[in-house]
Amino acid sequence: MSRTRTQVAIVGAGPAGLTLGHLLHLEGIDTVILENRSRDYVEARIRAGVLEQGTVDFLTEIGAGERLLSEGLVHHGIELQFDGERHRIPLSDLTGGRSIVIYGQTELVKDLILHRLETGRPLHFEVDDVSVHDLEGDQPTVRYRHEGRDEELVCDVIAGCDGFHGICRPSIPEGVLSEFSREYPFGWLGILAEVAPSSDELVYAHHDRGFALLSLRSPELSRLYIQCRPDEDLAEWTEDRIWDELHARLGLDGWALAEGPILETVVHGMRSYVCEPMRYGRLFLAGDAAHIVPPTGAKGLNLALHDVRVLAEALVDWSRSGSTAGLDAYSETCLRRVWRAEHFSWWMTHMLHRPEGADPFDVRLQLSQLRYVTTSDAAARSLAENYVGLEVV
Ligand code: APR
Ligand code: PHB
Repeated sequence: MSRTRTQVAIVGAGPAGLTLGHLLHLEGIDTVILENRSRDYVEARIRAGVLEQGTVDFLTEIGAGERLLSEGLVHHGIELQFDGERHRIPLSDLTGGRSIVIYGQTELVKDLILHRLETGRPLHFEVDDVSVHDLEGDQPTVRYRHEGRDEELVCDVIAGCDGFHGICRPSIPEGVLSEFSREYPFGWLGILAEVAPSSDELVYAHHDRGFALLSLRSPELSRLYIQCRPDEDLAEWTEDRIWDELHARLGLDGWALAEGPILETVVHGMRSYVCEPMRYGRLFLAGDAAHIVPPTGAKGLNLALHDVRVLAEALVDWSRSGSTAGLDAYSETCLRRVWRAEHFSWWMTHMLHRPEGADPFDVRLQLSQLRYVTTSDAAARSLAENYVGLEVV
């Protein structure tokens, strides 16, 4: 087994791991990033697409915003549709000019990989059998197999950026973490379609048949979702059936959804999850490894980037001054924003999805809430400031 050393071992090359590597590189801190998938796989995976104003500003400040600024689509509002009508929430007017940018997570990951490769610092794809050890000591290690060889990486800190199904969180001894979660009785069937988006802004639709969302990736690519069962069988969904359902849920008098070739179809379940604390000894969890939100609030990617920003600042402070104050506060600092996003995502999800059994009482409450957020300035502002991202939580 060959042994190497680094300051921070980063497990996972999603947005969290790659951004952490970038931030630490800017401060001259050594990192090794280990990813179990191939580069092609990571760069092809279609994920989230909404960046909060604060996330865009942050990526720009750290020099990772070049393509995002030229190709990202700035949106100043979203539409809520219910009872056969659309109502605009003017996000920017309600938040002192803040906005969101539509830019695929996949594109951001490609940009971050290029930045990493330019630095010449290690980023290993297709590593196998990753395991973390000696988390309680001051020299934790990561073992893995790469290109047929067993490797051991000795470091000061391990950053667990390996997503919800990664190995870092489960390596923490039983009884240390408190876990909080909620499973929803529905999922989303999502498509990517080669057609210009039929609306200039995102449309979140409440409908008797279930929720639907019209989103986009570019002026030529639409991203659309329909509420389905969490275990929906894609084999039961022909292209015609998908479009029929989208027309039924999103259609309005005088407005029709444009169809195009479907490039990709996915089903995913929906879950809220948080573990506390986001740290065990020298292992720090960041992003989906520590928390998951249902996608209705568009918060997952933004939270992941916030975590690594806090972690990088704490690591830099520790390496410069020897103070562990930032690292000791890491979990608490992140969890404040995490729980705000958990609440917002849960609230949006409940307001918009067809409840189990379509309970008429619940439906009346949803419609009342939708009317309230689209008619009261105070209620609309509350939605808007959460959607574009709160500056202080
Ligand atoms: N070893 C190495 N890498 C791993 C391992 C492992 N054992 N397990 C998982 N990974 C990798 C995954 O292949 C993935 O590339 O870790 C990465 C985790 O990335 P993400 O799942 O994208 O998580 P994160 O970086 O926290 O970003 C959160 O992703 O799922 C979306 O909505 C979510 O937008 C949010 C964002
Ligand atoms: C997306 O475009 O994938 C998207 C947009 C808004 C959401 C969720 C997903 O709330």
